[in-house]
Amino acid sequence: MPPFSPPFSPSVRDSVVAALRAAGCVFAEDEAGLILAAARTPQELSGLVDRRVSGLPLELVLGWAEFRGLRITVEPGVFVPRRRTEFLVEQALAQAPRASVVVDLCCGSGAVGTALATALGDVELHAADIDPAAVRCARRNVAGVGGHVHAGDLYEALPADLRGRIDILAANVPYVPTGEVALLPAEARDHEPLVALDGGGDGLDVLRRVAVEAPRWLAPGGCLLVETSAAQAPAAVEAFTGSGLTARLATDDERYANVVIGVRP
Ligand SMILES: C[S@@+](CC[C@H](N)C(=O)[O-])C[C@H]1O[C@@H](n2cnc3c(N)ncnc32)[C@H](O)[C@@H]1O
Repeated sequence: MPPFSPPFSPSVRDSVVAALRAAGCVFAEDEAGLILAAARTPQELSGLVDRRVSGLPLELVLGWAEFRGLRITVEPGVFVPRRRTEFLVEQALAQAPRASVVVDLCCGSGAVGTALATALGDVELHAADIDPAAVRCARRNVAGVGGHVHAGDLYEALPADLRGRIDILAANVPYVPTGEVALLPAEARDHEPLVALDGGGDGLDVLRRVAVEAPRWLAPGGCLLVETSAAQAPAAVEAFTGSGLTARLATDDERYANVVIGVRP
């Protein structure tokens, strides 16, 4: 049962649940609990419900997304971190539990870097994205763990002195094939920027660019981690191997998560 929010009566709660259900929200009860907890006045409540009913993703209605137990600030026009991506973070921590230099490339909100720095403790964290909206949003999240956020195209955004020093290079790049973007759920298609979704013809354009340059930026023994679809994974492993990394695939069937992990020998 979602928490009952003191300013609102059970009948208000019921009407919020009904409105969300009528709009097709599958988890209407849970969502109602979160929306009721976020609203301080009836006016605010009706604004939040209206936005959700109009199709805005719940995380953008609330202004945050849960990621590895953290509340990550999300803003309009920025990719909402997916719970599936927690698997990439887990794999990075397992591969490099004593990492001291971490980079979150294609950082979006900065959820991955923030979660890694939170788990690792005292690390030098850098996050980067090409989209100014993502950079602004990431600054709000990454500042809390003492990280730095840079703007620009992949590695061009990073300080040069990171070359050869990165222990964990996490890059949740866009990986939807161009022809499949139109098939995404409306919440993604209509509310997330194309630059966060479209990975080119086979979805691997950005991933290949990341893989090619990774060995120059990784420390010896440092690792690169990317998320792919199951179908793309073999080609992604090949791209890693082709750039000189030792590559393997990790999968989590429950979360439909596929992570390619490459290590600089
Ligand atoms: C799938 S989203 C992932 C965001 C975040 N890492 C996460 O997991 O929530 C991909 C991100 O890559 C960024 N991006 C796309 N092309 C880029 C490029 N050439 N250089 C840097 N960032 C890029 C997008 O702006 C978007 O924020």
